[in-house]
Amino acid sequence: HLPALGYSDEALFIEKVSISELVAHYDTPCYVYSKQAILEVYQDYSDSFAAIDHQICYAVKANSNLAVLGILAQAGAGFDIVSRGELMRVLAAGGKASKVVFSGVGKTYDDIEYALTQGIACFNVESDSELMLINEVAQKLDKRAPISLRVNPDVDAKTHPYISTGLKDNKFGIAHEQALAVYKQAAGLSHIDIVGIDCHIGSQLTEVEPFIAALDKVIELIHSLKSKGITLSHVDLGGGLGVRYIDETPVSIGEFANALLPKLKELGMTVFFEPGRSVVANAGVLLTRVDVLKPTEHKNFAIVDAAMNDLIRPALYQAEMAVIPNRLPSDGINNDDTQPWDIVGAICETGDFLAKDRLLSLATGDILAITGAGAYGFTMSSNYNSRGRASEVMVSEDTHQLIRKRESLESLYADEILWQDK
Ligand code: LLP
Repeated sequence: HLPALGYSDEALFIEKVSISELVAHYDTPCYVYSKQAILEVYQDYSDSFAAIDHQICYAVKANSNLAVLGILAQAGAGFDIVSRGELMRVLAAGGKASKVVFSGVGKTYDDIEYALTQGIACFNVESDSELMLINEVAQKLDKRAPISLRVNPDVDAKTHPYISTGLKDNKFGIAHEQALAVYKQAAGLSHIDIVGIDCHIGSQLTEVEPFIAALDKVIELIHSLKSKGITLSHVDLGGGLGVRYIDETPVSIGEFANALLPKLKELGMTVFFEPGRSVVANAGVLLTRVDVLKPTEHKNFAIVDAAMNDLIRPALYQAEMAVIPNRLPSDGINNDDTQPWDIVGAICETGDFLAKDRLLSLATGDILAITGAGAYGFTMSSNYNSRGRASEVMVSEDTHQLIRKRESLESLYADEILWQDK
């Protein structure tokens, strides 16, 4: 499941570059991504849906580094954004506004104005008040705004509650029962073009059934809309396909496509997808160094130089991500020194852990790779405890490039202003 990563002579490589070489160049903590791995997944989506007219709109929130966006833009990807900051990144990376869809429950006046001016493909509208606001901004700019309604199909995505979005009591989308009424409202607005319908039910889905259930509900709506004279040109099925972190067995992109294609072919509409995690998660690792070994009576702690500010998924979702050593012990991974370790950061929080009870044989100075870290890793990082964010590096075959500098500690307070007594 980690095609980009592998051991050669007991040393870990990403593509054809050894982790040791990367650490010597860039130090730790450092995020490293494989260009090939990103492109392979993108290509897999393209090939799997080749039989229908489709657009892959990569969900920028998963990993928004300009280099990642640029590589995907060059491959032909569109983008799913949730803020004007993300749109600015997409444009700075060479992405086309005409392939951008704008999701999110709280689009502001400024967000809408910027997106309309740039000419995005579609606003995924999540409430009737948002619809009114988009109409108002479009009128001011003397433009027509292309919209889809994001419907909430009330389907259980069977994933972690924090990343499940398609249930009635989630804040997302317009209730399935209200969708027809809001479409009619939209049809009556002077500066709105109804172009599609959208849903996104959650993230890290490992089964195909919830996607099918959501699609069935969306298809029902498409038919009712047609009978009321509202025809759409595209259907957006959101993102959400899961990946393997440890031992999950998510459906493959090919299986996902095969399950959906019969229904999609029959619909005959353009289909948008918004995958994030599945495109980048397993293209990336977070490299970290063991600074302190602290065996206690109850637990062994390995304190590493990355922490919850670099990678918050374990702390926030109890997410389990694999931790593998840069060098395999020559006497095997389960040797006499192997013990269970909690891999923790140096932040003053009990929740600051990256992994628990991992069987490893560790020494101070060892380099570890946390895998699956290409998605929702760097983008969710923070400066808590005044820690600079990690550097990011892209590898392609036997070459590597810095794609984001490590943050300097001075830069963390450069925009702050001392209080002046007057
Ligand atoms: N489209 C919309 C409207 C979304 O809200 C999301 C993710 C996606 C697409 C992309 O979903 P994906 O293919 O990545 O599953 N931080 C969490 C995941 C939050 C997902 C939020 N929405 C995590 O680290 O697990």
